[in-house]
Amino acid sequence: MRVAFVGKGGAGKSAIAGVVARLLARRGEDVLAVDSDPLPGLSVSLGLGVVEAVIPAAAVEEKAEGEPGPRFRLRRGLTASGALDRYALPAPDGVRFLQFGKTRASGVPLMRSQWAFRQILDGLPPEHPTVIGDLPGGTRQPFFGWAGYADTVVVVVPPTSAGILSARRLAKLASTEDATAAPSRIVAVASQVRDGSDLERVRQRTGLDVVGSVPWDGHVLAAEREGRSVLDVALESPAVAALVALTDRLAAHRPTAALAHRQGGAS
Ligand SMILES: Nc1ncnc2c1ncn2[C@@H]1O[C@H](COP(=O)(O)OP(=O)(O)OP(=O)(O)O)[C@@H](O)[C@H]1O
Ligand SMILES: [Mg+2]
Repeated sequence: MRVAFVGKGGAGKSAIAGVVARLLARRGEDVLAVDSDPLPGLSVSLGLGVVEAVIPAAAVEEKAEGEPGPRFRLRRGLTASGALDRYALPAPDGVRFLQFGKTRASGVPLMRSQWAFRQILDGLPPEHPTVIGDLPGGTRQPFFGWAGYADTVVVVVPPTSAGILSARRLAKLASTEDATAAPSRIVAVASQVRDGSDLERVRQRTGLDVVGSVPWDGHVLAAEREGRSVLDVALESPAVAALVALTDRLAAHRPTAALAHRQGGAS
């Protein structure tokens, strides 16, 4: 399963993605959590705090002039899986964590590190490992460039007008990509929900299959402010219970056959 969490800024993508990644790992899956947002988020909800490490620029090499495709490729002898072994950081519950170059770096080294990130994701063998991706807020990051790995796009939707509008735009973007890159499923998770009418609003106004509903829960906010994972500070909280249910649902309905079909068709 390869999931990309998208949605408006502040929707709760990072809070949800980090916990889902760890819960999948607790079920025995080999999980790679990837953050393509230049601002930190996922590392905190995974329980790693703020992480500055990025993939070193030397992971890629520049292609010779005239060679087709992007300017950089993984350095000779380095496979995507080998790069993961070298550069992914260990996170709690056995999750591995990889992040896009952060805003503090700049120029060519940052660009090289970002290309490495992308080429690692594009080069992973199908199905293994499970990938949980946290994308930056909104629609600015052309997301199939950065989430072409995803078989499942989860749109995180707070019950606000802007959150719902953003969700509709993102779902449309996801479904109108060309057939080889489009994810096999696009679903929604209602986030920061205060009551049943919030959930109903998300359901009706997005028209998406809402596979989970995470309540507004002060434990999530408090954990984030401490730089910790809610799983480590409030295991019994309502938000964690909702995220356990969401993880079960995502895992039970993984689009394995569809993915195999898509990748077979694309090769
Ligand atoms: N269910 C929730 N209940 C209470 N607070 C929440 C909940 N979900 C997220 N938050 C808080 O809302 C803020 C935004 O959440 P988060 O960082 O996960 O959003 P995001 O979609 O990743 O945002 P960005 O687009 O900026 O990366 C954080 O302070 C987080 O702790
Ligand atoms: Mg975030």
